[in-house]
Amino acid sequence: MSDVPLPRNEVPLHRLYNHYSELPGSVLVLYTAALCILGMSYLFAMLYLFHTYSGRDGNVMTLTYDDLVIAYAGSGKGSRIESALRGPMSSMLPKEEASAIVSWAQKGADRPTYETFIRPAIEKRCMTCHDGSNPHLANLDGYDNIKKVTEQDTGADVFTLVRVSHIHLFGITFVFFVMGTVFGHAYVRPVWIKYLVMGLPFVCLAIDVSSWYMVKIYHPFAWVTMSAGALMGLCFATMWFTSMYQMWIGRTPKMVSERAADDNRVIG
Ligand code: HEC
Repeated sequence: MSDVPLPRNEVPLHRLYNHYSELPGSVLVLYTAALCILGMSYLFAMLYLFHTYSGRDGNVMTLTYDDLVIAYAGSGKGSRIESALRGPMSSMLPKEEASAIVSWAQKGADRPTYETFIRPAIEKRCMTCHDGSNPHLANLDGYDNIKKVTEQDTGADVFTLVRVSHIHLFGITFVFFVMGTVFGHAYVRPVWIKYLVMGLPFVCLAIDVSSWYMVKIYHPFAWVTMSAGALMGLCFATMWFTSMYQMWIGRTPKMVSERAADDNRVIG
């Protein structure tokens, strides 16, 4: 049969390629078990992702572009004291005092100005409630405490990103290595689709992780983060379902059974 020209899309089977139907049952059990747990992990990862990010823009039901921008680059809405003084706390003090505190916070909340102008105002207007005795209210007693509520929301800081990056890069490489090893036994033609589905997740991973840092500099990179994540998920699903299907449901591909007949391999 080997002299018959192959159809255009058909690439001959590699000597070292084995279809699932040529592997021992024990290997199939291992592959299936690994895929089941990896599938579960992926679902939990999605839940976690959703839970962590979806509420940032005020709507917990959807994970959007704004959620990601706020998570990585900050809300751009200023500090907690600023939003408190423009919002729920605005009735606690005269307007001029409020805007003096806001502009002090925006300029970096320095200590000398605090001691001379800010502390007296805070003590007079805010201490009845914010002296630290109520654990549910922000403690505004003293410079160090008040400094905390003047910090601008600039999103996840770089060190947090570095920490999450290395966990992601190590962890997800293993996930797709295992996934690709299993999927490597699938019969897929044209064969370039198989190469693409196996290789793309690693490219996406690198782009995804780098894009977090870029979002800080240029917000629209959040689209890159989202696309890379979605593409990775798509590859994962493609490999998962193709592998499971070919292991347990699909028939042995013709190319494989013909080769087996040629060299007396056992199929089963
Ligand atoms: C009558 C009591 C009272 C006074 C006086 C008061 N606050 Fe508050 N403050 C609250 C309560 C209650 C909350 C929590 C309300 C909420 O979360 O909506 C709060 C919340 C805050 C928060 C936290 C917002 C956040 O992001 O969690 C800040 C900051 C704040 N107040 C600043 C001030 C400042 C500055 C003053 C003085 C100008 C002041 N408050 C005066 C009762 C008070």
